[in-house]
Amino acid sequence: MADIKVKLEVFDVIIVGAGGAGLAAAVQTGLAKLKTAVITEVYPTRSHTVSAQGGIAASLGNMEEDHWIWHMYDTVKGSDYLGDQDAIEEFIKHAPETVYELEHWGVPFSRNENGTIYQRRFGGHTRNFGEAAVQRACAVADRSGHALLHALFERTLRPDIVQYVSYYTEYYAAELFRDKETGKAIGILAWDMVNGGFTMFFGQAVIFATGGNTRNYRTGTNAHVNTGDGWKLCLKAGVPIEDPEFVQFHPTGIYGVGNLITEGVRGEGGYLLNGLGERFMPKYAPKVMDLASRDVVSRAMATEIREGRGVGPKKDHILLKLDHLGKDLIMSRLPGIWELAYKFVGVDCTKEPIPVQPSAHYHMGGIPTNVKGEVVDWDGKNEVRIPGLYAGGECACQSVHGANRLGCNSLLDIVVNGKQAGMNAARYILEERPEFPLPPLENIADEYGKETIEKVKAYFDGGPGEIKMDDIWERLRDSMQENMSVFRIEKGMKEQSKEIDKYFEEFKKVGITDKSPYFNTELIELLELESLLYVSKVETEAALARQESRGGHFRDDYPERDDVNWLKHTLVRWKDGKVELDYKPVRMKGATAPTFPPKKRVY
Ligand code: FUM
Repeated sequence: MADIKVKLEVFDVIIVGAGGAGLAAAVQTGLAKLKTAVITEVYPTRSHTVSAQGGIAASLGNMEEDHWIWHMYDTVKGSDYLGDQDAIEEFIKHAPETVYELEHWGVPFSRNENGTIYQRRFGGHTRNFGEAAVQRACAVADRSGHALLHALFERTLRPDIVQYVSYYTEYYAAELFRDKETGKAIGILAWDMVNGGFTMFFGQAVIFATGGNTRNYRTGTNAHVNTGDGWKLCLKAGVPIEDPEFVQFHPTGIYGVGNLITEGVRGEGGYLLNGLGERFMPKYAPKVMDLASRDVVSRAMATEIREGRGVGPKKDHILLKLDHLGKDLIMSRLPGIWELAYKFVGVDCTKEPIPVQPSAHYHMGGIPTNVKGEVVDWDGKNEVRIPGLYAGGECACQSVHGANRLGCNSLLDIVVNGKQAGMNAARYILEERPEFPLPPLENIADEYGKETIEKVKAYFDGGPGEIKMDDIWERLRDSMQENMSVFRIEKGMKEQSKEIDKYFEEFKKVGITDKSPYFNTELIELLELESLLYVSKVETEAALARQESRGGHFRDDYPERDDVNWLKHTLVRWKDGKVELDYKPVRMKGATAPTFPPKKRVY
């Protein structure tokens, strides 16, 4: 029998994830002098935030006139009117101060001649309510996420903060603990990936900042750790997931590998070409062309491919031309993508175009929160707060991105909403003074985490399993890519739903061959695969039910947006192994801004 050690740790706050959102939260809980555990699968500066390239959106107006209300309008329109307008207003208003704070914390933004922060054009960002593209993306060349992540991490290392923040690096979060009577979040069970064994982290607040989930697709921009563990933990603990059907496909993932080639390339003047050498975006978005919203550009590319105008022997991709920008501009503003294109497909983009294809990039939905980062359920009439539980960044859903996120609103989200989650968790602990949740320590191992610990024990004690997990991973990715991609249709989604049920059954027959507690990557991949099955199931069921097209969710069988029946958020709950769907209204009124009513999206 495997001897699995279980340790106990007690903190005030437990943050799961150390990307931008987790770190922004940790700055706040550290400043509030709360003992904070940050649990992370990878060293903080290796989190996926590091891959964000293009910039962070804020209407600074450094290059041309801009206004927060235009940024808000673009966000609402970009969201295909599914974003909650009060949340969007609050979010967008924070953008300029957030960028200046980051600048003061040491983010080395690219500069204009006059010393102000350089801003580039980006998809869907416009001046004067859609009139023309605007320069709004505050950029650090094309390594904006890298710079931002390092600045945030360094901030948590400041002496007055780091004394309260403990990093548990290479720990995998395996279960969310909720108090059995009150439902309050009280802790996390995590597997020590280096040494083996579990640690039960108990505290008065838990903050999820687990990032994205798109490793369930064949071609995607996401890092290997983006497997949706936060969603799984919440679903298993009775917390719903909001709007999971909305998946953003970034237009320019490198063909065949998926790595991101920033929209900043098009912001700097690059454009897309089909297999006939035609610049096709003017046909789909006459005003802003290649700088239309992401869902619009990805669909246009997929349409060109579908109608036989793709590039290459299989006519299955598109070209991104930028050599006309000149070597100097490319090497100063886009050095990162030059390197990626050269290393991954041997293309020198100062001389030739980069082969690209729409690649799974971002989930607009997530763990439902209000603007304070408090996780909220829905009782049919009102939002109901889940005490002690917070979320921020991509794993969460406020909902500021609605059905399609604007580029560069993601870095903004992790900093603004990560901060809100940290600040409000601190306020909850210091002002609301929740009762300390621990049952007597000696009984705790019996009360919590038993099932997960037993399951892991069984993997160590059991055989290699009848079914190989790689086999499920491969089929899951291929089938999601086939059935749940840029274009969707009932038949494909129904098949996909059945496929996933089959994978869940097969998953019961998977085992592990590596029995070492140390760096057991086989075990972690197994648990991650389970997370992706949860993600894929809620995504598919919600998409199947939504009989309309909106933002990142496009159905060939329902090609129009249907505001009469579907201007509402989906909530998916996991009950006794089955998915239950619920809906709640979209909030259309901002606090001070005028309402932007739904209208046809033209770019
Ligand atoms: O294209 C990009 O640089 C991606 C930005 C984003 O997803 O916000």
